[in-house]
Amino acid sequence: MRIDIITCLPSLLESPFSHSILKRAQEKGLVEVVVHDLRDYAVNKHKQVDDYAYGGGAGMVLMIEPIVRCIRQLQENTSYDEIIYMSPDGERLDQPIANQLSLKRNLILLCGHYKGVDERVREHFVTREISIGDYVLSGGELAAAVLADSIIRLLPGVLSDETSALSDSFQDNLIAPPVFTRPSDFEGMKVPDVLLSGHEQRIDDWRHEQSMKRTAERRPGLLDD
Ligand code: ADE
Repeated sequence: MRIDIITCLPSLLESPFSHSILKRAQEKGLVEVVVHDLRDYAVNKHKQVDDYAYGGGAGMVLMIEPIVRCIRQLQENTSYDEIIYMSPDGERLDQPIANQLSLKRNLILLCGHYKGVDERVREHFVTREISIGDYVLSGGELAAAVLADSIIRLLPGVLSDETSALSDSFQDNLIAPPVFTRPSDFEGMKVPDVLLSGHEQRIDDWRHEQSMKRTAERRPGLLDD
């Protein structure tokens, strides 16, 4: 899979892809993440990528030209399944959306900034808009990193134990059960006996029961779906 991220603040995206699981996924060649600086496609030598909004009002708007130049250059070599604009107005990211996007080959994630992007980009070039929640961030970069992470960890071979993404919270509309590690007794706080029993069926049953209980307590809406 290949994920191209278009942003006017590329340095914001350096760290999330340089550590741990996302770093290893790239090193193993399971995903290629390429960050593109919108200023490289700027309309003038001042590297301008934003301008005042027509009609007035506070806040700058990302211009259509640099964005379209960048998208067209990427499309010269690659055919994209989706061009996704990260926006609080988009459909809300959830596990089924991450699962669905993890089956795609090539994605562009476009990060807005300031007041957003010229509406014509959304109308004519963007194929999908995704929000990571009902709150407004300063830009789409952190949202793009969240979306990319949720997708990349699902790619086959990315997690060492392939079943572990399947047992994530939300994969079956249930919250994950509690987990424990050594010591089995910390100052009298004990790990449930069943987990020390070595009895696989009983452990599976206990985990399922805990997932149901937690989901009912914390996210009852998930049980209705
Ligand atoms: N850009 C700003 N806020 C956002 C959000 N909540 N989700 C996605 N992109 C955003």
